[in-house]
Amino acid sequence: QPPNSQTEESCVLKRADCRAKGGAPGFKVAILGAAGGIGQPLAMLMKMNPLVSVLHLYDVVNTPGVTADIGHMDTGAVVRGFLGQPQLENALTGMDLVIIPAGVPRKPGMTRDDLFNINAGIVRTLCEGIAKCCPNAIVNLISNPVNSTVPIAAEVFKKAGTYDPKRLLGVTMLDVVRANTFVAEVLGLHPKEVDVPVVGGHAGVTILPLLSQVKPPSSFTPEETENLTKRIQDGGTEVVQAKAGAGSATLSMAYAAVKFADACLRGLRGDAGVVECAFVASEVTELPFFATKVRLGRRGAEEVYQLGPLNEYERVGLERAKKELAESIQKGVSFIRK
Ligand code: NAD
Ligand code: LMR
Repeated sequence: QPPNSQTEESCVLKRADCRAKGGAPGFKVAILGAAGGIGQPLAMLMKMNPLVSVLHLYDVVNTPGVTADIGHMDTGAVVRGFLGQPQLENALTGMDLVIIPAGVPRKPGMTRDDLFNINAGIVRTLCEGIAKCCPNAIVNLISNPVNSTVPIAAEVFKKAGTYDPKRLLGVTMLDVVRANTFVAEVLGLHPKEVDVPVVGGHAGVTILPLLSQVKPPSSFTPEETENLTKRIQDGGTEVVQAKAGAGSATLSMAYAAVKFADACLRGLRGDAGVVECAFVASEVTELPFFATKVRLGRRGAEEVYQLGPLNEYERVGLERAKKELAESIQKGVSFIRK
């Protein structure tokens, strides 16, 4: 325990009391994989989020250092570190939101699916802990391959009898962040003015930007459509290649993860009209999981929106995306059911 733990405890209690009295809400958030390339900047940004009252940082290495460092930031959230499997349950107990960037990243030449063998087991163990210690928490799953790890998490929760499809969200926000950036460049707009829905999944052709639905309404030449779609689909690989063996996107991912987590917390608080894209249990297509816009509320993804009108280019892309997605989803399901 840190020397000032009593003071920290009373801070937490005071904030909890404030929340109970209808004052400013403070949510309890855990980051699993908090000492990693994404985990560290994500922890820093969550410590800056006024909606967070307690921040638990869990990893199998280095959490004491990361916790001491981030704990000195003069923002409201109380930070506690947890190191290694024996401390997983304490890290998870009482959490409202669990964000998972634990697992290995790609190196050049790898696909996200090449990470399956290592990351599937990591996600299973962490989700077993969630089912036991905070079954009502919202889960934001970042670990790749997202198209398979989300079905793995769902199967773990089903097995434990705690599955609520609304509370399990695969994080595809980085695809939207990239799409907004690249489309804004082409349109000559500030990225904040641009909203690009990105649907499907989070790997190669399963990433399907719907350029026909860009806001503000815009038209693109066939060449612009092809170039933008490919750049958005290959955004992760662009970073993996540029980092040349030193990992994949971490800083833009931490930004995207915080943007998404903040939306989930605003939904939990009861804000109206919080809508973001995420990979969730879905009836929008014949597949059991699919990324589309969802409305975030007190129970998680409370509404899953339809795709809306697609043009011919997008219809072809959708069929290709569904084919690959079906296999990735099945691979995740089989990993737990086998
Ligand atoms: P990293 O190797 O820098 O960090 C991963 C962290 O996970 C490490 O600190 C490691 O100790 C920890 N870890 C490993 N096993 C663990 C376990 N059992 N429990 C808890 N923590 C554990 O990797 P990174 O760059 O932070 O990427 C993490 C994951 O996020 C990768 O799978 C990567 O592909 C994925 N990712 C997803 C997106 C997305 O858009 N969804 C974007 C970027 C990266
Ligand atoms: C990304 O899109 O940046 C992540 O999925 C990491 C990767 O392997 O590309």
